[in-house]
Amino acid sequence: MTDISSTEPFLVFGSPLIEQAEIDEVIACMRSSWLGTGPRVAQLEHDFAVYQSMTQNQVAAVNSCTAALHVSMAAAGIESTAEVITTPMTFCASVNAIIHAGMVPVLADVDPLTQNIDPQAIENAITPRTRAILPVHFAGRPCEMDAIMKIARKHDLVVIEDCAHAIETTYHGRKAGTFGDFGCFSFYATKNVTTGEGGMIVGRDESNIARAKVLALHGMSKDAWHRFGDQGYKHYQVVAAGFKYNMMDLQAAIGIHQLARVERNWQRREQIWNRYMDAFADLPIRLPAPPAPETRHAYHLFTIMIDESVCGISRDAFLNKMNDLRIGTGVHYLAVPEHPYYQQRFGWNPEHWANAMRLGRQTVSLPLSPKLDDGDVDRVIRGIRSLIGKKEPT
Ligand SMILES: Cc1ncc(COP(=O)(O)O)c(C=O)c1O
Repeated sequence: MTDISSTEPFLVFGSPLIEQAEIDEVIACMRSSWLGTGPRVAQLEHDFAVYQSMTQNQVAAVNSCTAALHVSMAAAGIESTAEVITTPMTFCASVNAIIHAGMVPVLADVDPLTQNIDPQAIENAITPRTRAILPVHFAGRPCEMDAIMKIARKHDLVVIEDCAHAIETTYHGRKAGTFGDFGCFSFYATKNVTTGEGGMIVGRDESNIARAKVLALHGMSKDAWHRFGDQGYKHYQVVAAGFKYNMMDLQAAIGIHQLARVERNWQRREQIWNRYMDAFADLPIRLPAPPAPETRHAYHLFTIMIDESVCGISRDAFLNKMNDLRIGTGVHYLAVPEHPYYQQRFGWNPEHWANAMRLGRQTVSLPLSPKLDDGDVDRVIRGIRSLIGKKEPT
């Protein structure tokens, strides 16, 4: 085994690239004494709308993607007890948001190659109670939106796209998040654009976004910036039992500069992605499917599959060995029905979503942050090659 010194610094999985501009803006925000929702959030909404080729009235900043998903479902006016179809290959937040909105999650299995929800499985899962589809653009690869939107139109379903991985993603020339009624983005610490914690909702219909904005701040008709600004005190009215989901200017201060560098960071991740694809081509691990034609992959996660029968090491042993090499990895995701809460509440058995179950038991996400320098990438490559032997000649 190649000797990789255990004294090397730990390579933290998903560590964001923070530059001086973010630090200066946070300090300026603190010096301004306006920490809550205000001009910097408005700036981030403006910049995000420009990036998505939308208007500022089609976007709303919130404090997480989980909040974005929840508020979108509330704003869509779907009756509680309705069924919402989503993927088992996602973070628990996608499913929990459905539950918090009072609805019933229904899982449709994924395509084994793309790891995205399979449109045919969606069609098979539709019942008279289905009201919405919540596709997740897994790892930054767009779902089959033509097929999904066709199903939605046929059955008159709301579509809420989980774009937590998909800020840069396009499908047939169009941005992820702009196909459905709502698109929900994450600015969590490991995401392609970060505000520490944060999220954004986009929607084609401005009235949906207006409703989402009110619901994201207690159901109040005016936010604090408009109440306490220099234009004189304005009364608010509570028009719904809303939530406390607003983003702070302190968070937006980071996001404004992160978003300004979104393309540069994407290019760096693409380079790292391509290096991994080349470096592991002769190993018996399964690599991500190449991006589909006429799409743009956001390169959020680089996931490999460790099948013990061909790699000679189990996935969990591999994770531990990577840790010994001081290389942080992730698991995206153990399939949702593997978790006890959902098994107990919904009687889910992972075997029913066989593709997601198998992928979830084999998958490992490698470091892909733009913060990685070439030496870090070399270390990851050497580490993996030291743990996994070459493919047997056939
Ligand atoms: C697919 C997916 N959906 C939703 C979320 C929730 O995002 P947030 O942490 O911003 O609430 C995440 C976060 O990891 C995610 O990966």
